[in-house]
Amino acid sequence: MNKIDLSVNIGSLKLRNPVILASGTVGYGDEISEFTDLNTIGGIVTKSLSLKPRKGNPPQRIVETHAGMLNAIGLANVGVEEFVKSKIPFLNTFDVPLICNIAASTIEEYVECTKILTAENIIDAFEINVSCPNVKEGGLEFGNDVKAVGRITEKVRAVTDKLLILKLSPNVSYISHFAEVVKKEGGDAVSAINSLVGTAFDIYDFKPKISNINGGLSGPAIKPIALAKVLEISRKVDIPIIGIGGIMNWKDVIEFMIVGASAIQIGTLNFIDPAAPGKIVKELEDYCIQVGIKNLSEIIASYLIE
Ligand SMILES: Cc1cc2nc3c(=O)[nH]c(=O)nc-3n(C[C@H](O)[C@H](O)[C@H](O)COP(=O)(O)O)c2cc1C
Repeated sequence: MNKIDLSVNIGSLKLRNPVILASGTVGYGDEISEFTDLNTIGGIVTKSLSLKPRKGNPPQRIVETHAGMLNAIGLANVGVEEFVKSKIPFLNTFDVPLICNIAASTIEEYVECTKILTAENIIDAFEINVSCPNVKEGGLEFGNDVKAVGRITEKVRAVTDKLLILKLSPNVSYISHFAEVVKKEGGDAVSAINSLVGTAFDIYDFKPKISNINGGLSGPAIKPIALAKVLEISRKVDIPIIGIGGIMNWKDVIEFMIVGASAIQIGTLNFIDPAAPGKIVKELEDYCIQVGIKNLSEIIASYLIE
């Protein structure tokens, strides 16, 4: 049997397979490289980077829920300058596409971060986070506003020729309206979804379980919602989609691809089994052999293709 081709394209970026590590769940690669060989996966997204370092929210920042978790990390990160100085050299030792996730409180900050990182030759793409549910400024203020997402896309596009992905919020009525504006303003792709706003309370001390009160719900609980959002985008807008949300195994990956995702990201699963992304790549190959598919990319949006 000929070798199976797992490669997929996100616009101009070719990935060896569709399995990407999601922002905020693997640090800057250093938190997972011991368990998953970064040279075997499709790509890695950094923790959201802001212009200046951020401490994030005070603890408690994470709580487990049925079939998922709530997090309100608050975009704690080392800042762009420190990332360039101390994290890029480590990432540089791997042959893996690097997607830098950017978070900001103002449009100018998005632009500045993008400009600084565009100058770094190792970066392959940007994922602009306009959808963080856990911060007071930026985050959902942008993510819920179609015009703001359009402006951010336009301004960031003007300062970089790298692949530009906008990470969309599920906390909206029609996610496809956001994908439409991203395409119109020159974005290359969208990733969907970020976590959903949720909360949890302690029944004995009557207090919220996380200090920020609300957090972002992720994990298997959100998979059906994420699939429906990806399907909505792929039905309405002709733009590459990276599917995210509750992926726990290779079958979930296939499901996302069938409804239109060109690639996927693995988030919460990394906390349960940091070796899972590598295993999933192998299992995707086994699936292709089992069903007689030579190029995995054939199944992208297969549900929608007549
Ligand atoms: C602890 C934690 C931290 C996260 N931090 C970020 C972040 O900094 N930037 C971002 O765009 N998404 C962040 N996310 C969202 C994930 O990248 C992903 O979109 C979401 O968790 C849904 O995928 P999952 O169900 O596979 O986890 C975070 C998620 C978790 C669980």
